[in-house]
Amino acid sequence: MYESFFGLSGKPFQLNPDPAFFYGSRGHKRAFAYLQYGVHQSEGFIIITGEVGAGKTTLVRSLLEQIDPNQLVAAQLVTTQLDAEDLLRSVAMAFGISTRAVDKAQLLAELEAFLISLVPQGKRALLIVDEAQNLTGRAIEELRMLSNFQLGSQGLLQSFLVGQPQLRALMQGPELQQLRQRVTASYHLGPMDRAETQAYVEHRLRHVGWSNDPRFEDGAFDAIYTFSAGIPRRINTLCNRLLLAAMLSEEHAVTAANVDATADEIRLELSAGSPAAAAVSSVSRLDGRGFGDAESAIGLEERVVRLERAMTATLDLLQQMRRSSPTRPPDQVKG
Ligand SMILES: Nc1ncnc2c1ncn2[C@@H]1O[C@H](COP(=O)(O)OP(=O)(O)O)[C@@H](O)[C@H]1O
Ligand SMILES: [Mg+2]
Repeated sequence: MYESFFGLSGKPFQLNPDPAFFYGSRGHKRAFAYLQYGVHQSEGFIIITGEVGAGKTTLVRSLLEQIDPNQLVAAQLVTTQLDAEDLLRSVAMAFGISTRAVDKAQLLAELEAFLISLVPQGKRALLIVDEAQNLTGRAIEELRMLSNFQLGSQGLLQSFLVGQPQLRALMQGPELQQLRQRVTASYHLGPMDRAETQAYVEHRLRHVGWSNDPRFEDGAFDAIYTFSAGIPRRINTLCNRLLLAAMLSEEHAVTAANVDATADEIRLELSAGSPAAAAVSSVSRLDGRGFGDAESAIGLEERVVRLERAMTATLDLLQQMRRSSPTRPPDQVKG
């Protein structure tokens, strides 16, 4: 794309959570410190929440890169909508346990045996559940049961729950009181401030050899901050298009007006709503300013995130409705 135009050695604003680009804002450092602390514990839960795109998965990836596999066996789980039994099975798989267990008791026994087998090897176990806001109350309860495993007085499993802000609300459920007592620390990863937003952009650019090409004019970073509210993912989406647009107009400078124009385009696309409308808008732009596939892919990703959110909300609502309305006729309910 635009890398060669600006003499960059790689893509600076990709949307994958690549630890190589890790920038330690105050919030990211703090959250990272919590996770590092957790790595040295052998029981309980650490909870990290943050908005979509705040950098949670990047933190987890960065942490995993630093882990010594001789000391710690880590398993990572990304949940969609896991219920209790799927959860235990997924945990077993994530730890690489090949299980033929048919029921829950067997699964639990196998998991326990695995965790105990690590002790004489001098290893600890860490379970990381990403997108944990999708867990059902029952699935979280299963996690708590796993966290109960002990050998003598030593806990056998440390867990990190990482998720969107709804995870906090989920944790407040009355049925999760016992789990709450096992939470060692929880931290909300907020957005970056204005200065950090600029430092973040420059950090990512420098990582691919940037030396002030493109040049950011006065006010450009203010405009980037205004649009992104300091959320890394939004910054990446915006900057990616910004650099593309600059290249297409053969500019080596980015002004506040350029940022605002690109931000407006993104907003327009998001508010267009339907995938069809968005597809039409990105196609029509193809002949206008020559924006290519990469751009529509980014737009698509944003829309997928929104769709995912809407689906999660709908599923939550359905679950609530199921809980509050009796599914069996009254005469079958044991009194
Ligand atoms: N501290 C950071 N340093 C560098 N890039 C980051 C940082 N935090 C987030 N990003 C970038 O922002 C985007 C979204 O981050 P991600 O970890 O996927 O967010 P989340 O998991 O909270 O939704 C990714 O492109 C990621 O590389
Ligand atoms: Mg994530």
